[in-house]
Amino acid sequence: MKSLLEISHLTVQVGTRFLLDGVSFQVPEWKITALVGGSGSGKTTIASSILGLLPSPLEITRGEVIFENKNLLLLDQEQMRLMRGGVIAMVFQEPLWAFDPLMTIGQQMDEVLAAHTDDNPKDRRHKIFASLSKVQLPSTMDIFNRYPHQLSGGQRQRAMIAQALVTNPKVIIADEPTSNLDVTLQAKIMDLFRQFRKEGMTQLLISHDLGMVAHLADEVIILKEGRVVESGPVSLVMKQPKQKYTQALMSLVP
Ligand SMILES: Nc1ncnc2c1ncn2[C@@H]1O[C@H](COP(=O)(O)OP(=O)(O)OP(=O)(O)O)[C@@H](O)[C@H]1O
Ligand SMILES: [Mg+2]
Repeated sequence: MKSLLEISHLTVQVGTRFLLDGVSFQVPEWKITALVGGSGSGKTTIASSILGLLPSPLEITRGEVIFENKNLLLLDQEQMRLMRGGVIAMVFQEPLWAFDPLMTIGQQMDEVLAAHTDDNPKDRRHKIFASLSKVQLPSTMDIFNRYPHQLSGGQRQRAMIAQALVTNPKVIIADEPTSNLDVTLQAKIMDLFRQFRKEGMTQLLISHDLGMVAHLADEVIILKEGRVVESGPVSLVMKQPKQKYTQALMSLVP
């Protein structure tokens, strides 16, 4: 099992307080790896660290994020910008962070494609509509021309997934991607993630929904207070958890 992303000893501090303390795990190629842990355990901090989006005063004080033999933490801002959204795409926990409120959904997706591909405007439009329909949004000019605030919460979340997909990234990092969706849409998005896996996309899925993780993920990493408690194949970790914390989490799965 080849890993596409390798996080080692990742440590994030605010002053002397440790938000992540020596976090190490691998994200294997073509699989869905779930990152699970209670609120405040550091899941979003890990995602932000990988993508070079850690807000100050949070600081990476140790560790490496290796992607295709490169330590992403050593890239400069321009190199990281090219990586982000093109090769590694992010679905944010809070959709409003992902969008510029002053640009329409279509304009922003077009901008992402223009920055990361050589496609002409017609091809870009085609890809945008294909991406919108993949997430079950109407692939119409109506959605294309709407501003982020003119979509419902669930539509915005799906638009964000569409935007992440539009460049056909190698890795997608999704932070609670279905938290604003009703059960039917949640199931559809889960199907979509399964489809991405078939298409050869590698996924890091952040979720507190263990039911979803059990159904969807191949590998799981259990995080508690900024440290990895346990990790391994979902079938093993969820059925025979070794650690007390994981056992307690599993007892909550309906
Ligand atoms: N800007 C900040 N300054 C200080 N502490 C912060 C900051 N941002 C996050 N933290 C702290 O870092 C810790 C990890 O936060 P993080 O957002 O990564 O958790 P999470 O696992 O994503 O939680 P949730 O499930 O609620 O989204 C928390 O204790 C949080 O309070
Ligand atoms: Mg979070």
